[in-house]
Amino acid sequence: MKQKEQLEGIRAEAEAALHSIETLEELDNVRVKFLGKKGDLTAVLKTMGSLSPEERPVVGQLANKIRGEITENIEKKAMELKAAQQEARLLAETIDVTLPGSPVEIGHEHPLSLVLDEVKEIFMGMGFEIAQGPEVEWDYYNFEALNIPKDHPARDTQDTFYITDNMLLRTQTSGTQIRVMEEKKPPIRMIAPGRVYRSDAVDATHSPLFHQIEGMAIDEGITMGDLVGTLETFAKKLYGSDTRIRLRPHHFPFTEPSCEIDVSCFKCGGKGCSMCKNEGWIEILGAGMIHPQVLHNGGIDPEKYSGFAFGLGLERLVMFAYEMDDMRMLYENDMRFLEQF
Ligand code: PHE
Repeated sequence: MKQKEQLEGIRAEAEAALHSIETLEELDNVRVKFLGKKGDLTAVLKTMGSLSPEERPVVGQLANKIRGEITENIEKKAMELKAAQQEARLLAETIDVTLPGSPVEIGHEHPLSLVLDEVKEIFMGMGFEIAQGPEVEWDYYNFEALNIPKDHPARDTQDTFYITDNMLLRTQTSGTQIRVMEEKKPPIRMIAPGRVYRSDAVDATHSPLFHQIEGMAIDEGITMGDLVGTLETFAKKLYGSDTRIRLRPHHFPFTEPSCEIDVSCFKCGGKGCSMCKNEGWIEILGAGMIHPQVLHNGGIDPEKYSGFAFGLGLERLVMFAYEMDDMRMLYENDMRFLEQF
């Protein structure tokens, strides 16, 4: 039976071939040569027709056995070659950990955060806690509970972005007054910094997004004197001990009486300069004694308790602190500007 010899020959040849190859490509050539459709093994099987019925299964079995062996050896070799390749790559790609790294640029706080932190420090030093309210707010907290019903003219200056008829982007942090009243019992001393929104066009002094810091104190016997003392202390801490404040009568629907508060110009000391537009004074906040109805809306008895509230514009503070004349610089993320702080 020459087929038997041929098959044994193929087995030996394949073994030798596998022994000497070095790449996966060569391995594939070996597979095609011995096991492929036009390969050596198939060629032998095609001659089976000349065999006797007794011989056929014997040769068939041997052919299958050899096919199995060669296949197994090819797989083994493939694994070996892949492992060797991987090994070589790992060696070639070794990282030199002694090389100096590329420098990591460390950022720093934004001027808005720097000034906010300073303001927080000052009020925390006076026993105020930090509170927070949501930026997406109910009409109720932003307006209604602050004595600004739907048709109140004060809404004209605080047009905003509405989510629904009753839900909006808050126009002021004053809604946190009510939220804190609902949660705490007097004595209360809190400041609530955060983003507020108004549908204003962008210019040097306006932005549809800006920041306020709300402040509030409620207890038995709180008077306008406490308001003045607290904000004077704040102004002196922020701008220096020579700083004076002055109150101008104003109107807010949720405070009574209400005022706006100016600080003496920290650049010229009050003589008049370009910073204060020759006024000697710079307006920094709105304030007043919390309206009894507002206390009532917050669940606090106005017969027993009184309180003051104030609202600071953070951007204004920052712009004065760093003598900036364009608010847009605070939002543009221009590194040439931000790197200066
Ligand atoms: N919320 C007012 C504003 O945005 C400021 C303010 C706060 C006035 C608290 C009085 C008391 O103009």
